Amino acid sequence: MAPLNSPDLPHSGFIQLYRRDDDAIRAELTAGLLAEQPATSPKFLYDALGSKLFEAICELPEYYPTRTEKAIFDARLHDIAKSTGRGSTLIDLGAGNCAKAAQLFPYLQPLQYVPVDISVGFLKDAVESLRQRFPQIRMTGIGMDFSSTMELPPVVRREKRLFFYPGSSIGNFSPIEAATLLGRIREACQSDGSLLIGVDMIKDKDILTAAYDDALGVTASFNLNLLLHLNTLIGTDFHVRDWRHVGCFNESASRIEMHLEARSDVTVRWPGGVRRFAEGERIHTESSYKYTRQGFLQLLERAGFAAAQTWTDERGWFLVCHARVA
Ligand code: AVI
Repeated sequence: MAPLNSPDLPHSGFIQLYRRDDDAIRAELTAGLLAEQPATSPKFLYDALGSKLFEAICELPEYYPTRTEKAIFDARLHDIAKSTGRGSTLIDLGAGNCAKAAQLFPYLQPLQYVPVDISVGFLKDAVESLRQRFPQIRMTGIGMDFSSTMELPPVVRREKRLFFYPGSSIGNFSPIEAATLLGRIREACQSDGSLLIGVDMIKDKDILTAAYDDALGVTASFNLNLLLHLNTLIGTDFHVRDWRHVGCFNESASRIEMHLEARSDVTVRWPGGVRRFAEGERIHTESSYKYTRQGFLQLLERAGFAAAQTWTDERGWFLVCHARVA
């Protein structure tokens, strides 16, 4: 019988490991809304509408990260593929529509492709059409919250794991959380794995601010939509018109911050809680940390990765790193 991690196993489809825990969500959000400095996790920005608004953000002239990262991959794919090698087990963290990883397939020629997202529902259509185009690659979609565990089921090959984490999503974790997540990825790499990751760099404050407070107001809608999502999730009675979007760069913390600011005194009620917000009071909804090359390489090293190969664009706005285990 073939061992569980044998490449001879047939395509195994989809494995849903994450189960939504409504009580835990309610407790987390209630604690966040009642805190002295109210805050919610950025993961709550992504309901169905929030995910569509994020896709629209990626098309905005001011939001440079997506297209800058793509330009680096387009220009440097041969060098990147030389660094990563072929025949990997490509594990795509936060895969979404799988488009970024699919672009790499012809160059990286992975043996197995493992898109990971919170729900396999998001992955199904994308994986089905990729299977037609790349029948030689085994594909296994996994529904899991990789921010809390990186334990992959046995169907995922242990050999030559290449974790792919593009889009500077690592920036949405604090440096301490990012170090923990990178450490978990390092563990899951086994002895011969590596990480291909995209990171947004510190740059001119005006460019950063415009990227998170665009003229069309799409980022504002993305942020305000959180209120509608909270109304659905825990029954709050937020009115979108009572709040305004704030996107600003906190230089000392090297991060963009998104907040929702009360336009006037507002009382919000939900089963299990009530909070009065004074005019101008804010809910912190997202941080997006920006790094220097040196700062990010140090983070990788502390997590147990060896010196990385890096590629950037000519303006030095975005960084792609390939790091092997130390
Ligand atoms: C998903 N993440 C990397 C985006 C970012 O740039 O931090 C989310 C985002 N928030 C506002 N605009 C985009």
